[in-house]
Amino acid sequence: MAKANARPIRRIAINTGGGDAPGLNAVIRGAVLTARRYGWECVGIRDSYDGLLAPMRGGGLVPLTPERVEGITWLGGTILGTTNAGDPFRYPVRRADGKVVLRDRSDELMRAFQREGIDALVAIGGDGSLSIAHGLAKKGLWVVGVPKTIDNDLAHTVITFGFDTAVSFATECIERLHSTAASHRRVIVVEVMGRYAGWIALNAGVAADAHAILIPEIPFDIDKVAAALRAREAAGQNYSIVVVAEGARPKGGARAIVEQRLGGGERLGGIGERVAKALAPRTGKETRHVVLGHLLRGGSPTTFDRLISLRFGAAAVRALAEGRRGVMVALDPPSVRYVPLSRVARRIRRVPPNSDTVRTARGLGICFGD
Ligand code: F6P
Repeated sequence: MAKANARPIRRIAINTGGGDAPGLNAVIRGAVLTARRYGWECVGIRDSYDGLLAPMRGGGLVPLTPERVEGITWLGGTILGTTNAGDPFRYPVRRADGKVVLRDRSDELMRAFQREGIDALVAIGGDGSLSIAHGLAKKGLWVVGVPKTIDNDLAHTVITFGFDTAVSFATECIERLHSTAASHRRVIVVEVMGRYAGWIALNAGVAADAHAILIPEIPFDIDKVAAALRAREAAGQNYSIVVVAEGARPKGGARAIVEQRLGGGERLGGIGERVAKALAPRTGKETRHVVLGHLLRGGSPTTFDRLISLRFGAAAVRALAEGRRGVMVALDPPSVRYVPLSRVARRIRRVPPNSDTVRTARGLGICFGD
């Protein structure tokens, strides 16, 4: 973990990258108010790095004063804006012939940081954003990362902020589906986010008494899922709830990709509908599917998420004050600690198939389709 007893900090920047998550604004508040105690000025970069690479009218930097961060702890989204198409190392640029190509604009970005007198960056984001932060740290930028994603799939932190809010809301939605499914004797399939990891599906599914949970870590056999639902029917339970993570896939099959993104990413979606359609003839029951999708990213953060977000923001600034750089703030209860970005970049934390929660679910009779 690099420590620099180097130059004094006068001005820091904060940015939010990738998909939004409840708690981003609380991190910003935690960082800004803590930075003020060190006498540092704070600016926010609009839309990840676009505020420096492609500033819109009105400017790319937002002054982050204590007044500006008043009353934002409970606001969803990000007051700075975000994008998942602004990687400075693979930046989409439209050529004269209309074709979009990827360019490395990281040197230009480093110059922009210098030009703006920015001494350090607090980069709030998921695996993609933290990998970018690691790349910039290697180029000499003084950067501390803060782990964000509702999917909770980042390595080396017990939890990411945004996850608790997403799970709480998903739990409430699944719970509500029980009564309508039971009234109509239907099978309802609920698709939740979770591209590489099934943390949301697993936790919300268990907490809301789902009957089957399908996650990326445990490829499923649709016939086994159908058999479990038929067994419920035979036992007199005439409805069922199936929770499926968007990244879940059948044994030997592929994930449901709806779009291949420029730069390598994939957009997922549609597995809930496929599962519902496959279950109808196999169970002989009327099926419906619901996609919770971006509803899980919206809304006000839970108390838990507000608290860890404020703690993460404050800890990121303390790290800078202590001379740390190239690190990510991590939750290691009861404390926070710092993990080198090199260990975090491109590492996904998946649900261990033999984890206590999976075993609990199996004990409760929940089917994973394996
Ligand atoms: O934040 C992660 C995530 O929620 C994934 O579960 C999902 O695949 C992705 O974001 C969707 O992001 P977007 O619709 O912004 O491209």
